[in-house]
Amino acid sequence: MSRGLRVEKEKLFEPVSISGVLHLKNRIVRSATYEKRADEDGFATDGLIAMYEALAAGGAGLIITGVALVHPSGRLGPKMISIHSDRYVDGLSKLTDAVHAKGGVIALQIVHGGRQSLPLFIGGALPMAPSAVYDRSADVTPRPMTDSEIWRIVDAFADAARRARSAGFDAVQIHGAHGYLVSSFISSHTNRRDDYWGGDEERRFHFIEEVFKGMRAEAGEDFPILVKMNCDDLLPEGGLKPEEAARVAQRLAAMGLDAVEISGGMRESPIKTIRPAILKETQEAYFRQAGALFKKRLLIPVVLTGGMRSRRVMEDVLQRQEADMIGMSRPLIREPDLPNLMAGGKEKADCISCNKCANFVKYETVECIELLGKGKD
Ligand SMILES: Cc1cc2nc3c(=O)[nH]c(=O)nc-3n(C[C@H](O)[C@H](O)[C@H](O)COP(=O)(O)O)c2cc1C
Ligand code: SF4
Repeated sequence: MSRGLRVEKEKLFEPVSISGVLHLKNRIVRSATYEKRADEDGFATDGLIAMYEALAAGGAGLIITGVALVHPSGRLGPKMISIHSDRYVDGLSKLTDAVHAKGGVIALQIVHGGRQSLPLFIGGALPMAPSAVYDRSADVTPRPMTDSEIWRIVDAFADAARRARSAGFDAVQIHGAHGYLVSSFISSHTNRRDDYWGGDEERRFHFIEEVFKGMRAEAGEDFPILVKMNCDDLLPEGGLKPEEAARVAQRLAAMGLDAVEISGGMRESPIKTIRPAILKETQEAYFRQAGALFKKRLLIPVVLTGGMRSRRVMEDVLQRQEADMIGMSRPLIREPDLPNLMAGGKEKADCISCNKCANFVKYETVECIELLGKGKD
């Protein structure tokens, strides 16, 4: 029982379903978290599978994998899962089998890095983007995509969704947040085109619309498609803001989107997606206002991610109708069994939001560096 919060009926451990197809035993979602555990070519390794087995045994209602690459031109880092060829399906099938054997439900998150794909990881090439808008966080100006390149990547998302289904995933999630390719087409800051793909709000929606349509056609009507999207690009000027973001989600819901996860920010935003030092309850659930807006506008399930640490706050978010599900990344890096621990009465995650785990480049894999005591240097 959450202390100090009087509620008629606690919701966090209530089952929930997505489109009547995905039946989840509770409302805790492991939000996508890059693992750095695939091999150099993007194939599933024993270490990657073991990590997902532990998460499944840990009790989360839904697990979303870290970014899986839909096309080599969109690589964001080393050792990320790949899904841009049928060759990856067998290895990923072993991963989904292992998760299902532990009673888990798992979605594959698919991505193209777009303007935030670092030249280092794409053979020194310039990253592709809707428009040539300088990214000061990486000191790179990407090159604008041609019409045929855009359609090629739309197809790559569609093919990835079909492969996700063949590999036994229970759902697929489009990474439409954090400034990567899909997000950069939606954002007025990064999309300065004046053609079918950009120019006004409606045309900026076309890329995610075509991606969604392609995925639906390839993966089937009954395969859940989720989107993680920004509610706010968190830029001082311009970019996506909550009202437009809610309209994007509404349009997708009208097309048959099964659930939406809310996040925010891009690499160059001064306010960060992965916010450090969340030590007080008032710093938690940092996108909850947008959650309330999305909940008012949508009938599909809303997952709220960002700074969820205390069971009390999670329950409050659910009770106030700011979300239907609670997404967590860092707390489950530190404690993959946090859902089970909370079901047993634990009140607060151990993660101190030091962000050492987010320093991908420095360490061999993504893990809780703080817990390992490696972060002292
Ligand atoms: C190490 C690390 C890797 C991440 N990888 C991804 C990813 O692959 N896809 C994604 O959408 N978000 C990714 N994120 C962002 C998280 O999913 C989440 O939106 C953010 O960390 C805020 O949630 P939290 O406070 O629960 O960590 C990552 C975050 C961390 C710390
Ligand atoms: S290193 Fe550990 S304590 Fe620090 S943010 Fe990552 S998971 Fe949390």
